[in-house]
Amino acid sequence: MSDTLSPMSSTFSLRAAEPEDYEFLTDMLLEAINWLPGRNFSRERILTDPEISHYIAGWRRHDDLGVIAVGQDGQPRGGAWLRYLTSDDPGYGYVSDDEPELTIGVRPEWRGQGTGRALLRELIRTSHRQGIKRISLSVERANRAMQLYIDEGFAVVEQLQDTDTMVVETR
Ligand SMILES: CC(C)(COP(=O)(O)OP(=O)(O)OC[C@H]1O[C@@H](n2cnc3c(N)ncnc32)[C@H](O)[C@@H]1OP(=O)(O)O)[C@@H](O)C(=O)NCCC(=O)NCCS
Repeated sequence: MSDTLSPMSSTFSLRAAEPEDYEFLTDMLLEAINWLPGRNFSRERILTDPEISHYIAGWRRHDDLGVIAVGQDGQPRGGAWLRYLTSDDPGYGYVSDDEPELTIGVRPEWRGQGTGRALLRELIRTSHRQGIKRISLSVERANRAMQLYIDEGFAVVEQLQDTDTMVVETR
């Protein structure tokens, strides 16, 4: 069987995130929060905690932008999206009202196969085409995801105790 027909094929395609992706992106927000082994925030908790729920509440707003990686079986494997937050309701990686904040997650069984990097690159490219100049994020320094962000051009703009705020100029 060729690789592209295998049910476990690592081949995936990218598409724009739609309003119907709300449940899946909520799953990915849960992955992003629970990246640390032993941290088990529930779905209910992230949807009711105002500091977390604002990353996905009301998806898809007119200025939300996201990308979904879809396997050959049509199932979503990962997603990355941007949300504009404001100074009166800032996210962990808030820099300014004009710089949307990134969230990214890949289903655990598909990690380490290039999906996250492809999502990030596509989202940065699409943002640039849409006139978004800078994207911010917050990452706990111990998360391996930090290396991915550095590789893709993000730079640290603020250091807190365990987390860094990072920004990339889109291109
Ligand atoms: C971070 C994440 C989105 C990366 O997606 P991925 O598909 O696993 O990444 P890729 O295969 O494209 O690998 C790109 C880089 O991500 C990092 N990475 C790889 N596997 C990873 C893993 N299991 N966990 C965290 N980072 C990983 C590495 O730096 C890797 O680069 P390398 O291949 O040169 O070592 C994904 O691992 C994930 O969903 N992690 C949990 C959620 C999370 O931490 N989100 C970010 C919160 S700030």
